[in-house]
Amino acid sequence: MSKKEPLSIQIIILFSILLVLSFNRLLFHAQSNSPASIAFTLDGKMYIGVDYYPEHWPQERWEYDIQLMKEAGFNVVRLAEFSWILLEPREGYFEFDWLDKVLNLLNKYNMKAILGTPTAVMPAWVARKYPETLAMKSDGTRIIWGGRKNNCFSNGTYRLLSERITQAMVAHFASSSIVIGWQTDNEFGDTDCRCHICLSEFQDWLRNKYKTLDALNKAWGTHFWGLKVQTWAEITIPDSRTGKWAISNPSACLDWDRFTSWLNVRFQADQVKIIREICPNHFITHNFMGLYSGLNYYELAKDLDFVSWDNYPFFSNWNTPGIKYDASFSADVMRGLKQQNFWIMEQTAGPFGWGTFSRNPRPGEIRNICFQQLAHGADAQIWFRWRTCTAGREQYWHGLLGHDGKPLRRYEEAKQTALDYRKIEKYIAGTTVKSEIAIIYDYETIWALSYQQGYEGNSFHDAIRRYYNAFFRAGINVDMVSPEADLSKYKLVLAPDLFILPDPIAVKLDDYIKKGGVFLTDCRFGVKNENNICHDRTLPGLLSDALGIQIEEYESLSEIEYKLKVNDKFSGSFTASLYSDWIISNDAEIVAKYDEWPVSSYAAITRNKYGNGIGWYVGTVIKEDAFYDQLIKSLLNDAGITPFVQPPNGVEISVREGNGRKLLFIINHTENKQIVPVPTGKIELLSQSKTIDTIELDILGVVVLIL
Ligand code: GAL
Ligand code: ZN
Repeated sequence: MSKKEPLSIQIIILFSILLVLSFNRLLFHAQSNSPASIAFTLDGKMYIGVDYYPEHWPQERWEYDIQLMKEAGFNVVRLAEFSWILLEPREGYFEFDWLDKVLNLLNKYNMKAILGTPTAVMPAWVARKYPETLAMKSDGTRIIWGGRKNNCFSNGTYRLLSERITQAMVAHFASSSIVIGWQTDNEFGDTDCRCHICLSEFQDWLRNKYKTLDALNKAWGTHFWGLKVQTWAEITIPDSRTGKWAISNPSACLDWDRFTSWLNVRFQADQVKIIREICPNHFITHNFMGLYSGLNYYELAKDLDFVSWDNYPFFSNWNTPGIKYDASFSADVMRGLKQQNFWIMEQTAGPFGWGTFSRNPRPGEIRNICFQQLAHGADAQIWFRWRTCTAGREQYWHGLLGHDGKPLRRYEEAKQTALDYRKIEKYIAGTTVKSEIAIIYDYETIWALSYQQGYEGNSFHDAIRRYYNAFFRAGINVDMVSPEADLSKYKLVLAPDLFILPDPIAVKLDDYIKKGGVFLTDCRFGVKNENNICHDRTLPGLLSDALGIQIEEYESLSEIEYKLKVNDKFSGSFTASLYSDWIISNDAEIVAKYDEWPVSSYAAITRNKYGNGIGWYVGTVIKEDAFYDQLIKSLLNDAGITPFVQPPNGVEISVREGNGRKLLFIINHTENKQIVPVPTGKIELLSQSKTIDTIELDILGVVVLIL
């Protein structure tokens, strides 16, 4: 007979366990609140590793793979995000042995693992037993099982099955000292289900949002075409992608996009709840996709400890090497989601593609890509993938190792990169990018522009790129922030193409300028309210005073172009293209006017002093990059910001700071050596040499100065 502890001792033990658990949790969350410090290191070493698919290779190979990883200086792998069928081969029957074996091997080499909840690909048995879990296309047929991203997010069965595998997995690995964290699903987004459950969930969601049908009819402007609804059940799913007579009320479309985004957020929240309860010491993240905008990433990021993302920078210049503006732009968007550092969960490791493949990373480029992300706030670095798979859809998506599994050039370069990271990681700890400039990045504007572009060629990302790329060329960091963000810490704020402008945001921007901020906006700013209905005020609406202008008329230019006449702030000849605001200046300085009939009496670009600040307006798309370079100089001047270093073209500057240090990253994206002027007497951390007044960078080379 076992001796029983007195009740009071049991209570004390239970209480202490609870205390320890909640303390751990507190500790973890306290850490996760301080940017840049989350799950930063293993024994003081930054996490560096690969996405590993042991299930693609014979077990006899596993230990050799892990040895090679260890020799390369890696200390982490991501595993299992597509292995639901292996973990639950039959409904309710779980098998974790194979994964335990992998974890044990990792442990032998003191390496750690991140596990993916495997819900991005449903097993065949799910589709066979529960066909209603497959997403429905707009033609009313269901997706045929056999690929990825194929489920409906409203379907209760799918949600339960997803919770069950998540629960079983986290329960099995909760006490593992090898697992450090979880990735929810894989790259949420791109699923668009139009089944009757999604429709009734949409109707419920709308009822919850608007409470009354009158409110919904008003918000959606259903007086147009007599589209008033009289019961919630009359609401249908809008389709923004079909012809002009389609169910494509832009207000309904915006709510549909908000709703489908919310479905993904809810699906993730179900998993997060389970993981938090069972594994309070493990972090939770998700692998985002940079500039992908199908979901409201601010919302998806809220439940997570930190954001991770998948960087495939050749997408923007598939076959020609070039300046990787978009990789930096994406990194800044990713850092902006929670205003804290992020991880790279998948990093380009080789040529990639499905049917055809891209060019190979040039010597030095694997390292260059990693340093670019590090410079923008990446606290960990994981390559996709370890070894190129010989089977399936991604046979051309090359890993560090080729199909032959030999550790060759790309492996060696990753090893070199890891070695370089080891040299600087103690300086990196606790640092992040602290910019004095913000650009407003808004998913609802992106969605609204996708149904009504306005002028041909209007793209929110292109609008941002015009300024972002010029800041890049000027060697200046930028933060990407949501429209709701606190702007008071910024000296300069840009809101290019901010099409959706609820009144409270307009009032905030006006206030920002009045209090001394420098602000710039441009074409199609503030056209719509939060319901995607045109404001009925003369543009730029509530910002008219702050910008000192009114825009009574505007037009698309398509084939037409206008010459511009600039004032003495600028030099050169510039051309207005794509779109033109016919600006009447009330009090604003006219920086440029149109130099051609019939618009010669209108301003194209203005600058206005307002309160203690300055409001700029650019009412056209200028063809020449040189214009934006000069514009950025004027803005920096107005805001009193000076770059640390003026880089030559193709060389990037980014600064991480914190713990009383500033680290200046200089990254050469060109295929030539570059000489860059730098402050004298500073230590270059990779070579441990002292700077004189210039520094030479190799082709695709990188240096890190401590300031
Ligand atoms: C990512 C995805 C990976 C893999 C990779 C290459 O988007 O998360 O699973 O598919 O692309 O295609
Ligand atoms: Zn559905």
